[in-house]
Amino acid sequence: MEGVIDAVTRDLLTRDKGLDWTVTEFVRVVDARLPPRVFYKHCPELHPDRRQARQDAVATPSGVPVHLQLLGSDPAALAANARQALRLGATGLDLNFGCPAKTVNRHDGGASLLRDPQRVQRVVSAVSEAVGERIPVTAKIRLGFADRRLALACAQAAEDGGARHLVVHARTRNEGYRPPAHWEWIARIRQRLTIPVIANGDIWTLADYWKARSLSGCEDVMLGRAVLADPALPARIRHWQRTGERLPETRWQRRADILDAYARRQCETLPEKVVVALLKQWLNQMRGRDDEAARRFQALRRETRLAPFLAGLHGAPEVSETALAD
Ligand SMILES: Cc1cc2nc3c(=O)[nH]c(=O)nc-3n(C[C@H](O)[C@H](O)[C@H](O)COP(=O)(O)O)c2cc1C
Repeated sequence: MEGVIDAVTRDLLTRDKGLDWTVTEFVRVVDARLPPRVFYKHCPELHPDRRQARQDAVATPSGVPVHLQLLGSDPAALAANARQALRLGATGLDLNFGCPAKTVNRHDGGASLLRDPQRVQRVVSAVSEAVGERIPVTAKIRLGFADRRLALACAQAAEDGGARHLVVHARTRNEGYRPPAHWEWIARIRQRLTIPVIANGDIWTLADYWKARSLSGCEDVMLGRAVLADPALPARIRHWQRTGERLPETRWQRRADILDAYARRQCETLPEKVVVALLKQWLNQMRGRDDEAARRFQALRRETRLAPFLAGLHGAPEVSETALAD
């Protein structure tokens, strides 16, 4: 997720053994072939220093594969960058047709291509041909741009272009992130396609997971914001799949520990203020799903120093002086 999930986050979130694979933030392709440093920035796991052995899949330190995501609209430019990614050792490429950001859509990227299924097909097909059978090319769509009329046609276009699987975020671009996600629409797409279809959108809890699976009929789901809100959710789902048991709700301490580990890792390369801003961003994702996170966020939202911020995550919740002065 752009601006939110980087290699450190991926590392921390994949330690629990619940996720099968991860996807990078999108690499935006406009025209020219991008230099290696752009790929390494978005996907440090690609860097030769990080690869345990050259043959290994690009993966997090705990071995969960990382697919590189490209976003763009020009088939030739995307193909050139797909070849570049392949040359650098990428072992999975995903194409983004879901991004709703105005700046991205204005430049004809992300969900704006969903207005024309042929363009979706041309992009997927150019990238698939560029990398051949060597690595899988996959795609991610929404249900449409302004409405769902072209949902099935766009999904079919991705399959016809050569996508090996399709992730469907069950909302249109204009619906943004507004609930509900229309999981039943994913079922229509799944019935039409022969490739695996993966359900995405608003899966926050184990109960959501069941409901999304039963309404979509999909075997697999993709989790976005929920993994940040509740880092134990993938392992809870996996445990339920294996045993039929429900693990208890995630305690605050578990969330605090991951934020703490994240801060310590980010401090190695980023200034303190940036680390605190990133921590607030993550805590903000947690607060809608956890009362304790909401209380801590309220108490810490004006804090800019790292040590008091971390202390505030672990100690009894207190309202800071600056927050009180509000
Ligand atoms: C801040 C933010 C950044 C995102 N960046 C990406 C991205 O780079 N690539 C992508 O495919 N989806 C991206 N998404 C969309 C999510 O992957 C996901 O499809 C969407 O949030 C719906 O799933 P969820 O309800 O599980 O979060 C982003 C979402 C958010 C909120």
